[in-house]
Amino acid sequence: MIELKDVKKDYGKGEYITHALQGVNLNIEKGEFVAIVGTSGSGKSTLLHIIGGMDQMSSGIYRFENEVISDYSLAKLQEFRKKYISFIFQNFALMNKYTVYENVEMPLLARKVKGRKKIVMDCLEKTGISDLKNKLPSQLSGGQQQRCAIARALASDSPVILADEPTGALDNKTSDEIMSCFEEVLSNGRTIILITHDIEIANRCQRIVRIEDGKIV
Ligand SMILES: Nc1ncnc2c1ncn2[C@@H]1O[C@H](COP(=O)(O)OP(=O)(O)OP(=O)(O)O)[C@@H](O)[C@H]1O
Ligand SMILES: [Mg+2]
Repeated sequence: MIELKDVKKDYGKGEYITHALQGVNLNIEKGEFVAIVGTSGSGKSTLLHIIGGMDQMSSGIYRFENEVISDYSLAKLQEFRKKYISFIFQNFALMNKYTVYENVEMPLLARKVKGRKKIVMDCLEKTGISDLKNKLPSQLSGGQQQRCAIARALASDSPVILADEPTGALDNKTSDEIMSCFEEVLSNGRTIILITHDIEIANRCQRIVRIEDGKIV
């Protein structure tokens, strides 16, 4: 499904250049559950952003279901994201003007999905925040905001879920419940790639990809 060939990503230029990705080769099959691990600054978020079409690479080839994404314009990348990707950001990226319920409903509205109420309530219950549905993100704890971002990704029917440390703000028991939610959506044929610093979380995935200094080791 996902095929990266010699992908490089530089930030800045001249003496301020950072070689965030230095020739990444990675294949991910449809329905796989993959963990990306590595030290801080090793390039994990950069890699996930490129897979999600959030950012353009400096060089290399990215094929998604045999389409060459690396040639896409920014406008086409946006279409690609809308169609295929749900992203759980490291900083949650919830919309503060909208309630928990509305945040989770957002991707469904964008795709004009029918029967939204049931889907949204189901995901809020799975993530244990249904009683907070009328609150604004600013009224939630960090862990509750994280669960709202996860509920939003679970609710959307996108084939790929990309998650940047989705359990970073959660206690062990809640992390465990979230991993069970992910395992459940995997059985519906979705593909999940998550970044984690937690070895127990990584061990629950089918495969662990380790990145060091912008390279897969
Ligand atoms: N927008 C940016 N502009 C310039 N440099 C950046 C930018 N984003 C990331 N970098 C640099 O690229 C490198 C990789 O960053 P990245 O965010 O991918 O690391 P990470 O593995 O996700 O780290 P962490 O575990 O701390 O989140 C780092 O050296 C970082 O400073
Ligand atoms: Mg990161």
